[in-house]
Amino acid sequence: MAAAAHGQTLDVLHWWTSAGERRAVDRLVQQLERQGVAWNDAAIPGGAGVAAMKVLKSRVLAGDPRDVAQVIGRTLTDWADLGLVLPLDDVAQRGRWKQAMFPVVLQVVSHRHHVIAAPLGVHRINTLLYHQALWARLKLGAPRTWDDVEQAATALRKAGLTPLAWSDEPWQVATVFETLLLGEGGPTLYAELASAQRWQAWQNPGVLKALVRLRWLRGLNGDAAVEQPWTHSARQLYQGQAGMFIMGDWASGELKAWGAQPGTDFGCAAVPGTAGMHLYSIDTLAMLVGKKRRDADQDRLAELLGQPAMQLAYNQAKGSVPVRTDIDPAQLDECARDSWQTLARPGSSQLPSIAHRMSADESTKDALAAALHRFIKNRELTPEQTQARLVTIIRGAARIQ
Ligand code: GAL
Repeated sequence: MAAAAHGQTLDVLHWWTSAGERRAVDRLVQQLERQGVAWNDAAIPGGAGVAAMKVLKSRVLAGDPRDVAQVIGRTLTDWADLGLVLPLDDVAQRGRWKQAMFPVVLQVVSHRHHVIAAPLGVHRINTLLYHQALWARLKLGAPRTWDDVEQAATALRKAGLTPLAWSDEPWQVATVFETLLLGEGGPTLYAELASAQRWQAWQNPGVLKALVRLRWLRGLNGDAAVEQPWTHSARQLYQGQAGMFIMGDWASGELKAWGAQPGTDFGCAAVPGTAGMHLYSIDTLAMLVGKKRRDADQDRLAELLGQPAMQLAYNQAKGSVPVRTDIDPAQLDECARDSWQTLARPGSSQLPSIAHRMSADESTKDALAAALHRFIKNRELTPEQTQARLVTIIRGAARIQ
């Protein structure tokens, strides 16, 4: 890509390579280019950044980081502690981020009194998507409770369809599981579960209930073991081969990129038990400290990412919602509007994603996902044994904090 009029080209590492993700990034790149910032794409495919983070880490260890990278949540604060990211305090002040952005967003990008990344958008993890035409054909009501889900599953099975698009990929199992933790355990317990210091919370019966629910959910399709990228599950829903899909709302961005419309072609509900709650994962770009001096260009990029037009263009494609409180929700589709309004509602429960690094560090979230994966794969493992394993993992993590 040619360097823009002023400044240099910035290498940006991220993992947004699916149709919806790509579309969102392309919108950013275009808008940035118009404003003189050139983005050189360094994307590493793989859902949830499992591969991208490995590549990025090895480059950082080799002393050759990218200029900018999608580094989020706990990983972001850990890296800030290591002095790997540039503070953006001046940019945040000039852009009046404190006044314009949701408190939860500011909290995620602030660490030890510094702003350490530019926020892009807020994803809602507790999202259940369903196929509207199938719902109309089978005369089903919106899936609001687990009974609704069970009824829908029975009807879908009778019609020869897969009830729930599903993958045993560890991060996807962990993503579904945390929505069940919130639904079955409630927001107070979930908040404790997400803070590693309180490892005892993982002994709560709510965790056991969530594990039982996880196995039940996975059993809705019968015994077949499927391990596929999240985009394949989204495709099953899009084509009406599967009726439902529980996934972060980047899946909504994907369906939109393929031409499906929220509210018409697919519906979105909160995962049962989580209506009015927001289980969030906030995407953020960190400006990495490198050998080459790029600070001015990095600042400029951070500044532009926060601006309202950029926020809308990107998030409307990504499935996430703008980080700003001053946008017009009428400009969002109905899935996104509910997400944004939930964030904006005073006193609503807003909980950090464990599976997407908002609360757990990289190795803890991987260990949790591996334990859940084993539970799903091996029917001999009881929910009680798995709960004990989860307790051990979190207890270990609490000890090294
Ligand atoms: C999440 C990330 C999203 C997303 C998804 C699937 O971790 O926050 O932006 O696209 O992974 O790759």
